Amino acid sequence: MRFLKILFLFVVFQVSAQQGGMWIPSLLEGMNEDEMQSLGSKLTAQDIYDVNNSSLKDAIGHFNGGCTSEVISDQGLVLTNHHCGFGQIQSHSSLENDYLKDGFWAMNLEDELPNEGLYIEFIVSIHDVSEVALKSITETMTETEKQSLISKNTNAVLKTWPKESWQDVKTKAFYEGNQYFLFVTERFEDIRLVGAPPTSIGKFGSDTDNWVFPRHTGDFSMFRIYADANNRPAKYSKDNKPYKPKHYLPISLDGVEEGDFTMVFGFPGTTSEYLPAVAIEHITKEFNPTNIAIREAALKVIDQKMKESDDVRIKYASKQARIANSWKRWIGVNLGIEKSNAVEQRRTFEATFTKALKEKGLEEKYGHILSEFDKLYKDFAPINIKHRNFIEVFLTTNELMQMTFRAYQVEQAIIDNPEILERGKEVLTGQLQSIHKNFDSDLDKGVFENVMNIYQPNNVNSLIYGETAFTNLDSALQLLEGDAETVIKNLNNDAAYAYAKPIIAEFFNTLNPEYQEKNAPITALQTQYMTALMEVLPNERYFPDANSTLRVTYGQVRGYSPRDAVYYEPVSYLDGVIEKYIPGDYEFDVPQKLIDLYEAKDYGQYADSNGKVPVCFLGTNHTTGGNSGSPAIDAEGNLVGLNFDRVWEGTMSDMNYDPEICRNIMVDLRYVLFIVDKYAGAQHLIDEMTLVHPKKNDSKKKKGRRKSKKK
Ligand code: ARG
Ligand code: GLU
Repeated sequence: MRFLKILFLFVVFQVSAQQGGMWIPSLLEGMNEDEMQSLGSKLTAQDIYDVNNSSLKDAIGHFNGGCTSEVISDQGLVLTNHHCGFGQIQSHSSLENDYLKDGFWAMNLEDELPNEGLYIEFIVSIHDVSEVALKSITETMTETEKQSLISKNTNAVLKTWPKESWQDVKTKAFYEGNQYFLFVTERFEDIRLVGAPPTSIGKFGSDTDNWVFPRHTGDFSMFRIYADANNRPAKYSKDNKPYKPKHYLPISLDGVEEGDFTMVFGFPGTTSEYLPAVAIEHITKEFNPTNIAIREAALKVIDQKMKESDDVRIKYASKQARIANSWKRWIGVNLGIEKSNAVEQRRTFEATFTKALKEKGLEEKYGHILSEFDKLYKDFAPINIKHRNFIEVFLTTNELMQMTFRAYQVEQAIIDNPEILERGKEVLTGQLQSIHKNFDSDLDKGVFENVMNIYQPNNVNSLIYGETAFTNLDSALQLLEGDAETVIKNLNNDAAYAYAKPIIAEFFNTLNPEYQEKNAPITALQTQYMTALMEVLPNERYFPDANSTLRVTYGQVRGYSPRDAVYYEPVSYLDGVIEKYIPGDYEFDVPQKLIDLYEAKDYGQYADSNGKVPVCFLGTNHTTGGNSGSPAIDAEGNLVGLNFDRVWEGTMSDMNYDPEICRNIMVDLRYVLFIVDKYAGAQHLIDEMTLVHPKKNDSKKKKGRRKSKKK
C-alpha cells in the first residue's frame, strides 16, 4: 500500500515535470534547473549557459537562420540534419556528381566544398533589456506609437552596447512584447560541406515516413566552420583555417533507454502557445484546410514529374520537400487538435481565467479581451484565408506566377521612380536566374492548372504557357532590355504578365492592406492577453513563444500511444530499415552496402547492448521547426542524438503541447557514427571527435548532483 502511494506520487510528479516549454538559457537557475535535475540531469545552469566560462551554449550554432547545428570537434566540425544541408548538397549535385543520390564525403580538408551565403551564428551572451525597451510606454498610447517608441528605445541600446568589432547585436521581443532581450552574436560565413549520406539514408522514408514514428531516417550531414588567422569570423578564403571552438560536444557511445533525461538545445522558430480558443478553431477548421488543398494539388504534379525524370528530380528536390513538409504537418496539426479536444480544453481554461478575473477585481481592466478576440477573428478569418491562398499560389507553388509577381514589383517601383531602372533590372534578373536554375516549364504548367483551379476556378488560362517569354530565361531577360517605357511596354505585352497583373494588383491594392489592417489589432490584443494571463493566473507555467532565439527544452526518452491499443516503443533499429526496404522504390530503397553491413552484423562499436544498431528515438522535449539539427544532450552534457522531427499527432504542440502525445524524434548518434565510419569509411572524421562512455563509467563516478562551478 505504502509502495503504491509512493509510486503514485512519483507518477504525478513525472507528469507535472513534463509540461513542455522552451526556456531562455540564461534564466535556468531555480525552477528549470530543479526540474531538469528531477528528470535525471546532472547539469547545472552554468554548465549550460555561462558568460565567463565556456559552456554548452558555445557549441550550438544557428544554421543559416532556419536550423540548428552543433560543433563536435576541436577543428570546427559541425553536425546538422540532412534536410538542413539539403539545399547545399543539391547545389553541388549534377547528373554526373549526384551527391543527393550517392552521398558525398570529403576525405581531407581540401575536398570540403564552400557554400556561398551559408552561415552559422553563435550566441555570445544574452541580456534582459526589457526596462529600457519599454521605457516611457504608457497605456494610453496607440499601438503604432508604442511600436515606434520601442524601436527607438531598442535602437539606442543597440548602438551603445559594448561588443567586439567582429560581433553583432540584436534585440528580440519575448512574451508577445512584454519583455525584450539583447543578444551578442558571432556569425561565421565560411562553412564547407564535409559529408552527407545518400538520400536513401538521409531522407529514408521520404514523405511517407515524414512526421511519423516508427522512423528509420539517418537525417544528418556534416559541415566545417572556417575562421581567419585569429580564429574569428571571416568571409570565404582559401587561407581560412578550421575554427577552434570555445566548446564542442563529446559524443556518448552508451546511448539512451526509456526514462533517460534528454535536453534539446537549439533555435526553435515560431510557436503560438497562448492563442484563444477561437483562433485555434479558425486555424484548424478554416485556414489550414484550404492551404492543404492547394499544396496537395501542386504535389500531385511535382511528385509525378520527379519520378519520371532524374533531371527534374534534382531540380525540384528542395522545393518538393519544402512544400510537402508543411502540407503534411498541417494535416497532423488538425488531427492532433481534434483528437486532444484542444479547442474545448482552451475554452475551459478561458472560463478559469474569466473566473479569476472576477475574483481579483480585474474585470474592468481585462474583461473585454476574450469577447474582443471573438469579434476580431470573425472579421479577420475570410481575409486571412484569401491572403494566404494567394501566397501559396503566387509565391510557394507556381513559378510562372512567382516570376510575374517579381516583375510586377519591379514595374511598380520603376513607375514610381524611373531612376531605379538599372537597379530594378538587376534585382529582377537575379530573381529570374535563380528561379530558372531549377525550373521545368512542363511541370510548372501542370502545377499552374491545378492550383489556379482552386484559387480562381473561372480564370484558368494555361494557354499563356505557350505564349509567354517567362518560361525561357533568355527570352525572359529580353523583356528587360531598353528604357523604362520599353520595359513596361514589353512586360504588359507578355501573355502571362497580362494575365497575372490584375490578380497581383488586387493583392497589393486590397488584399494585403486589408489583411494588415485586420491583423494589427489581433497582435496588439495578444500582447495584452499575455500581460493579463501572467497577472491574473501567476502560478501557471509561462515560457515565451519561440522566436528563433536559443532555447533549452528538456524531457525524457518515452514511447507513446497514438491510438487505442497502439503503443510505440521509443527506440527504432536498423532491423526496421531492412523491414521497410522496397528495392528500387524512390522512398524505401536501401543502399546495397548498408544491407551488406547489416547481414555481416559489422557494427563496430556502434551497436546497443542488445546487439542491434539503434536508428531513431523519441523524447518528450518540446520542439518545433528550427530545432532541426539541434543536439539531444544526455544528463552529463554529451551528445546522444540529433533532433529532426516530431510525431504526427504531436505537431499541434506549436499551439497546444500535450505531454501524452507530443514527442520529438531524434537520430541516435551511434547510427550517425556507424554510417560515417562503416558505411562511408570516413574514419578520419571519427578520429576528430571525442567519444565517451558515461554509463559504463557511472559506477566509478559518484552519483548525485554536480555542484555549481564556483568562480
Ligand atoms: N519534418 C521534418 C522537418 O520539419 C523533416 C523534413 C524533411 N523533409 C521531408 N520532406 N522529408 O523539417
Ligand atoms: N524538421 C523540423 C525542422 O526543420 C523540425 C521538426 C519540427 O518541426 O519539430 O526544423
